[in-house]
Amino acid sequence: MRAKIFGGLVCLVAVALIGLPAIAADDDGDKPKFKTKQVMKEAFKGPLLKKVAGGDGSAEDAKKLHAMLVALSKNEPPRGEEESWKELTGALVKAGKAAVEGDADASAMLKKASNCKACHSKHKPS
Ligand code: HEC
Repeated sequence: MRAKIFGGLVCLVAVALIGLPAIAADDDGDKPKFKTKQVMKEAFKGPLLKKVAGGDGSAEDAKKLHAMLVALSKNEPPRGEEESWKELTGALVKAGKAAVEGDADASAMLKKASNCKACHSKHKPS
């Protein structure tokens, strides 16, 4: 009887451990959802950033942009200091969050934080 319960427990733990990576993959964990190039094409060069920064974006747009900015901040910069990358992308994440929350300052924050040249000059490989 005892052995049976113990065996059952071991089984449960094993299932839980095997299940973990699958659950983690769905999570907001450390793995970025969008590559930097993708964020550049879809949000920065594409209409998404302009739309949200211009105040024309929907709540969905703001959420999508925020998710992309969070992913960007988690990506490794292809060039330049980690410290500076954290600072630049941190300001973007903050601005994106303000947009999601409907903060009146969100547009100004987004415009300021999305200075293409300020970031490219430090982090974009030439
Ligand atoms: C916080 C930093 C940051 C900001 C702000 C930023 N970029 Fe970028 N951008 C990058 C990095 C880093 C790369 C290089 C990505 C790579 O090569 O992996 C890049 C690359 C690009 C590319 C080339 C993508 C490709 O497929 O090679 C385009 C286009 C681009 N950015 C547009 C913009 C525009 C337009 C803005 C301003 C509205 C902007 N970016 C603002 C960091 C930034």
